Amino acid sequence: MTEKHLHELMEQMTLAEKVGQLVQLMPDFFAQGGEITGPMQQWQMSETQSYQIGSILGTHTAEQVYTIQKQYLENSRLKIPLVFMADVIHGYETIFPIPLAMAASFDEQLVEHAAELAAKEAAEAGIHVTFSPMADYVKDARWGRVLESNGEDPTLSSVLTAAYVRGYQGAQKQLSKDKKRIAACVKHFIGYGAAEGGRDYHTVDLSDLEMYQNYLPAFKAAIDAGVALVMTSFNTVHGIPATANQPLIQDVLRKKLGFEGLVISDWAAVAELMAHRVAADGEEAARKAFQAGIEMDMMSDCYLNTLAQIITAAPELQQHLDHAVYHVLQLKDALGLFDDPYRGLAAADLAVHLDPAIRRSTREAAERTAVLLKNEGVLPLSTSQKIALIGPKADSTDILGAWSWIGKKEEAVSLKEGLIGKNLDLSVLPYADEQALSDEYIEEACKLAQHSDVVLLAIGESSEESGEAASLTKLTLSRRQDVLIHKVAKVNPNIAAILFNGRPLVLSDVEESCKAILTAWFPGSEGGHALANLLTGEVEPQGRLPMSFPRSVGQLPFTYGQLSTGRPKTADNQDQKYISRYMDEDNDALYPFGYGLGYSSCDIEETTVLTISAEQGIFEVKARIVNQTDRAHHTVLQLYSKDLVTEVARPVRELKQWQKVYIPEHSSLDVTFKINQACFAYIHSDLLLKNDPGKIALYLGFDAKQAKKIGEISI
Ligand code: GLC
Repeated sequence: MTEKHLHELMEQMTLAEKVGQLVQLMPDFFAQGGEITGPMQQWQMSETQSYQIGSILGTHTAEQVYTIQKQYLENSRLKIPLVFMADVIHGYETIFPIPLAMAASFDEQLVEHAAELAAKEAAEAGIHVTFSPMADYVKDARWGRVLESNGEDPTLSSVLTAAYVRGYQGAQKQLSKDKKRIAACVKHFIGYGAAEGGRDYHTVDLSDLEMYQNYLPAFKAAIDAGVALVMTSFNTVHGIPATANQPLIQDVLRKKLGFEGLVISDWAAVAELMAHRVAADGEEAARKAFQAGIEMDMMSDCYLNTLAQIITAAPELQQHLDHAVYHVLQLKDALGLFDDPYRGLAAADLAVHLDPAIRRSTREAAERTAVLLKNEGVLPLSTSQKIALIGPKADSTDILGAWSWIGKKEEAVSLKEGLIGKNLDLSVLPYADEQALSDEYIEEACKLAQHSDVVLLAIGESSEESGEAASLTKLTLSRRQDVLIHKVAKVNPNIAAILFNGRPLVLSDVEESCKAILTAWFPGSEGGHALANLLTGEVEPQGRLPMSFPRSVGQLPFTYGQLSTGRPKTADNQDQKYISRYMDEDNDALYPFGYGLGYSSCDIEETTVLTISAEQGIFEVKARIVNQTDRAHHTVLQLYSKDLVTEVARPVRELKQWQKVYIPEHSSLDVTFKINQACFAYIHSDLLLKNDPGKIALYLGFDAKQAKKIGEISI
């Protein structure tokens, strides 16, 4: 439809019909069976109203979408199609590793391709929009939603967030033609990951400097990549919930970041303004959210039941309403829904046809995102060894993660199933989920371990223990898994722990008892096959940590990009009292950002820092990497910087660029990083992104802690 046609359509709409377009509800109001991802309230809705709403979220099947759309269009006066949205977070029915795992690939092509495949499967199920990517900056693993994030580095998160948007949406303005792509909704704007105490939905108090420097970049990347929607967050920003925060939405999102798409609330967040106690009733909540700039009210009845009266009482808001409705119609038009409300769904064949190629892709992704944290000669496994597989996750298909709701656990490949196909001398100790690692189970485990060469301990979190509304105050292994490790280690030291986790865990107390630790995260539908390939050495682990594993929960919030402070702890003042340190713990992480091992290794043999053009601020870093081993090696070469003197205090390290490299055995490789001064710009106290002259130290290495200084440049 042309802009003219859309405006002509709007002229036909009644006030109630316009308001209806700004309402998004569960499918339950039309048919049973939708995904509940927030508190459910029941409210009265007339049949007329139900055929005026604009959007449905959380459908499960193409048949459900087709049925609802057909019923809606038959009863809608203007026949404006519904737009269907859902949380396609890391796959639709065929599940990829969780986003935090995908970030461990440091591979934007992998992320973009995974998003494209997820979009294909979701589009075939009738989904038009996904509530993804999640672009929240995170530095507190107590917050269960780090699972959905791209980790603690704003630059890595920005690159991957844009990759998700490209993967879901395809080339700009192609959504109406390419029915295998879906619109993306970047979330949660903004600051959600800074919840105090890591407690979900808790207060956020964020300085503008911190917001502009660390929280906005990934959203800017999504917007620059053309993301169609932005979802606001539940939390307060400067004391006002984002859902009702006019300066945040109008000045920052619309003006500073230039976002021109649709702004949607989070689940029931408009109504929750009353719980925040910034609105006395639904009408005040609706007015505040609407005036702030929320254009679609997800799962609350505030707009549905009060917005028409608000507009009638304040006609100056009519234009505001038309803007919001236009954004909804524009989205529907961009998706081609006015031409085909079913977007390619064929009544004759609404059955699911999963593409095996997508399943293969999830396996490859799982192989490339697992992170080997430790290995003292235990991995890879060999067919000559007697191998024991023990622990609650040994034969578990609870490996899809918290946001995999369409994914079927029963179709996931467990670690046991993956290993069985590998012709190993494998003994598996069965584990019944209801057991919480009883003494009897641990005793059985020790017996089996005693007669084995290597013990694979499959441990970690259940899906419910991470994700939304899954905050923890302890990050050590739960359900007596640490007891299992310590007892087994006494009878057989050759333990390889296979960790299934949605967040960094505190492994300090068990690390010494394990000779190898591989974090699989929640690896998705093909987890078992991927892990079997990794554990037998068919594939080398190549994931690198996108988020630090702390030594203690007491260190949180934690990021490698900490500021210097006025009393930094250094190699020379370890025993001094009056420095920024803990009395009972080191300052650094157990496993740092960017860290990960393979089955081989390489060294940085020589480096050169070249100033190509001082006046234009163009530089090059060259490095020769050498692999002197008998085995090829995958790694991620990371370039960090430290701006030596700045206007506002800056981090001690900042990831600037990285390159995934593959080095054949007994060979070397020359790697070049091309950098310019723009990548050293930072947010100043006036909130402007700019460079200032000075010296910048450059560090090159394989994680944020190990990277060595290779020189300085002047800009
Ligand atoms: C949830 C989440 C949000 C999700 C939405 C719809 O509460 O906060 O990330 O997209 O509701 O399910």
